[in-house]
Amino acid sequence: MSIQGMSKEHIMEIRSKNINPMTSKITYYKKPVFIHQGHMQWLWDMDGRRYLDLFAGVATVAVGHCHPKVTAAVEKQLKKLWHTTNIYVNAPLHEYCEKLASHLPDPLKVIYLTNSGSEANDLAMLMARIHTGNYDIITFRGSYHGGSQQTMGLTSQSSYKYPIATSSGCTHTMCPDVFRGPWGGSHCRDSPVQTIRQCSCAQGQCMANEQYIGQLKETFAASVPSRVAGFFGEPIQGMGGAVQYPKNYFKEAYKLVREKGGVCIADEVQTGFGRTGTHFWGFQGYGILPDIVTMAKGIGNGFPMAAVVTTPEIAASFAKAYHFNTFGGNSVACAVGSAVLDVRIKEDGLQQNCHHVGTYLMTELAKLRDKHKIIGDVRGKGLQIGVEMVKDKVLSYAEPSSWRPTVAVVRRSHICIHDRDIKRTHAAQETTITTAVVTHDKLLWGVPSADTGYRQRGKV
Ligand SMILES: Cc1ncc(COP(=O)(O)O)c(C=O)c1O
Repeated sequence: MSIQGMSKEHIMEIRSKNINPMTSKITYYKKPVFIHQGHMQWLWDMDGRRYLDLFAGVATVAVGHCHPKVTAAVEKQLKKLWHTTNIYVNAPLHEYCEKLASHLPDPLKVIYLTNSGSEANDLAMLMARIHTGNYDIITFRGSYHGGSQQTMGLTSQSSYKYPIATSSGCTHTMCPDVFRGPWGGSHCRDSPVQTIRQCSCAQGQCMANEQYIGQLKETFAASVPSRVAGFFGEPIQGMGGAVQYPKNYFKEAYKLVREKGGVCIADEVQTGFGRTGTHFWGFQGYGILPDIVTMAKGIGNGFPMAAVVTTPEIAASFAKAYHFNTFGGNSVACAVGSAVLDVRIKEDGLQQNCHHVGTYLMTELAKLRDKHKIIGDVRGKGLQIGVEMVKDKVLSYAEPSSWRPTVAVVRRSHICIHDRDIKRTHAAQETTITTAVVTHDKLLWGVPSADTGYRQRGKV
């Protein structure tokens, strides 16, 4: 079987010789799947087999593969103008920026278009430092903010770190993880599924939040100077395992950070564009207002684009030197971005879909958690969902060899999911189910095969 005259053997030869070797290390499936085509939530391989894509190109294909309206918008723009640069005045750039700004609350109205989430976070770090005149930036342990040399310092996962000097001035505070961290109960998180931990907090109180905020205070007292540049937070920690925090954490953390002179940055690369269902941005679910928001992935439905949005005040501080990139604001990218916003918001009601389908999926997965010893936790919001594997219902480390076969069964049922072996502070792994446009009827197919996967481990 071949695609465009290329055999599978030849493709694999190219992969091993000419492509970033990391891709060969983590190629999913023992016998790789040769993806050939996509339409909405479906992918097809070279042999014509169809897959339900719950992975969505690492949580990126926000409105579905080759969505007809987005494809039509790209085709139209490709015939008109590919690129000028944002130095020239051109309609697609301005149409897009106006539209994107209309989805952000005041005063978050100034947009910098970039090419990737890493570049967006690089820029946000720089802005925070220039605006405040301070240097130190705090983020959570277990966070992922990018792979550039600058963001590598911010990212807190050893597997993404090289033994070189990365950005200094990045400090990682304890992640307020209410499932695996030292504190957490059965009311802490903003999710249809709570942890199986018990909770004795009185109404309106959250002991776990107080403890985790105490840890942030410790970080301020011990690890950074008295003034800081900023605090980064993913509203839900994506690559760290769809980790959710106590509901009031960010509100209190933002207050503390601002008292220390810092700005607050929401990394919405994973949580943005309605994926969490209840709101368009993850931060809105916490009732907070960041000073800088970074976004990528879902912004372009797979087209390489990203953005930083900030306030006029921060933008004015940042205007002390030129900031320029060639492709930010590319005409085709802006046409894609505009079409994604139209489809995502107005036409297909995908934010509501994320809410309804995500709630349904988490509820079904929670039933599997109650049935199978290997599932310690099901969590998330909308269609950002994590399933954490454990050893016999306790928090101890489940060897990848004990859960990878489960993932393999799900994948053999032609469902694409994302698995990560994350040895977090206390050692854990999880499987993240990230999804684009998926409907209940499609999931009715997915959940039983997950059940089969867990059952086949013989651990019911
Ligand atoms: C939360 C978060 N921030 C930043 C990034 C980096 O984005 P990119 O891969 O586009 O550089 C990622 C990528 O997975 C991410 O999940």
